[in-house]
Amino acid sequence: MIVCSCLGITDKDINAAVDWMRASDAHTLITPGKVYRALGKSADCGSCLPLFLSTMRQNANLEIPMQLRGLGRVKTQDLQDEGRRESHRLP
Ligand code: FES
Repeated sequence: MIVCSCLGITDKDINAAVDWMRASDAHTLITPGKVYRALGKSADCGSCLPLFLSTMRQNANLEIPMQLRGLGRVKTQDLQDEGRRESHRLP
């Protein structure tokens, strides 16, 4: 099925790129931009992005590596803890 009509990218192309990126690096975050680049293309009009993302999300290899999950929450919690410590230092 054609996903991107501007560039002729199919769902099979997207899945092949996602599978290749995951096989190449188990810890990489796979983004639409990386998929375009892996296919040697760059987005044109962008109207395919919702279907492009939906196709990517159906691929089990798109999962965020376990080591990278929750990093945003940890960072936010650290900043909140620092804020509390800083507020105790103020006169
Ligand atoms: S349809 Fe994909 S860039 Fe235009």
